[in-house]
Amino acid sequence: MNSIAKELNEVLQGTAAAGLLSGMGKEMFFPKGIVAQSAEAGQKAKKYNATVGMATSRGVPLHLDSIQQEFPGIESGAIFPYAPTAGDPKLRSIWKDEMVRKNPGLQGKDFSLPVVTAGLTHGVAIVADLFLDAGDTIIVPDMFWGNYRLIFEVRRGAKIRTFPFFSESGALNLEGLEETISSTPGEKVMLIVNFPNNPTGYSPTDTEARALADLLTKTAEAGKKVLVMTDDAYFGLFYEEGTCTESLFSYLADAHENLLAIKGDAATKEELVWGFRVGFLTFAAKGMTGVQYEALVKKTMGAIRSSVSNCSRPAQTLLLKGMSSGTYAAEKEAAFATLLGRYRAVKRVLAVYADNQLLKPLPFNSGYFMAFVCQGDAEALRLHLLDTYAIGTISIGDSYLRIAYSSVDIEDIEDLFRTLYKAAEEAWN
Ligand SMILES: Cc1ncc(COP(=O)(O)O)c(C=O)c1O
Repeated sequence: MNSIAKELNEVLQGTAAAGLLSGMGKEMFFPKGIVAQSAEAGQKAKKYNATVGMATSRGVPLHLDSIQQEFPGIESGAIFPYAPTAGDPKLRSIWKDEMVRKNPGLQGKDFSLPVVTAGLTHGVAIVADLFLDAGDTIIVPDMFWGNYRLIFEVRRGAKIRTFPFFSESGALNLEGLEETISSTPGEKVMLIVNFPNNPTGYSPTDTEARALADLLTKTAEAGKKVLVMTDDAYFGLFYEEGTCTESLFSYLADAHENLLAIKGDAATKEELVWGFRVGFLTFAAKGMTGVQYEALVKKTMGAIRSSVSNCSRPAQTLLLKGMSSGTYAAEKEAAFATLLGRYRAVKRVLAVYADNQLLKPLPFNSGYFMAFVCQGDAEALRLHLLDTYAIGTISIGDSYLRIAYSSVDIEDIEDLFRTLYKAAEEAWN
């Protein structure tokens, strides 16, 4: 094993993270290579800096004006150079501040500085690299973002184990989760939760979130090493009173020494910059010190360095500028109001079809989506909608149809849903 990896493992010894690292996670380190040496030169090489594979002229990046002119008012140094491996320090810091503002339960708790990833997909893949070995089990509710299969199973050879997301009464199925945890063999319990959920659009109530956190804490108290990743891709889009508006990460950050909480954020979705490919990973475990967080961040940087090297600089610069703008908060509120309006329009039209037996909506209260349980074949309905009505939806397995109402203007929502019910009758009767 590389000596730097060994040092990092020694620093992490005794932490939840150390007990959870995969083979690759144990081996991972951030080399004192080009990136580290050029960062050192950035401080000291005042005469000539001949370190990094870029081109400069008179101290600024050599660049093409036809590209620079598309970024009026932004200096070339904030657009063209590589970004630091863990991301722009100012962006990491503002994201951390915003995280605490949006999750007041984090106030006074210790956690790492967020690390920039190339979108949340990359964040999930890094967590899989660092913590999942071939044959490991990761527990996921049965309603989950399909890309987890590629990331956990195809890329890492781990096994997804599901439990029914909803109980019979349409609440979060904590009993099912508890049974799944207790019947999963081994010393590690690894779980990913995604609220607001894709594909259902469900987020737990305050009571459910508290009970979920308690269940996971109890598992850690019983001696298991517990990893909980919160996939907070659609964070903030909570439309109903009584829905938990904090990430589960808030409850878990200082829950127990055996429990490592990892918050996955998607600036892509939260800040409406999908194609910018900016996400964040943040780590927390009770008792972990600043030096230990830094060691885990170094391993994360190794995972970034060895996959995408570093994340988009112009995207980070634009995001930082936007988040620092005086109108940022008001603009985000306006975007929220737009999506809330669509959510309410969906609820209004669904109320008209409350007795319909063909399409039954699953509980939803947040995010971008809602999903129907289909009485007939979901794929047949999807194709009928597409071919006859030019309406695109997503079928999931045989039984579910996902509707991203976030992408439909409010004035079209009633027509969309009326057409869905009509098409279901045509497709299945
Ligand atoms: C639940 C969930 N997690 C993560 C992602 C990935 O987001 P990103 O675009 O930041 O990679 C998505 C995107 O669809 C998602 O639905």
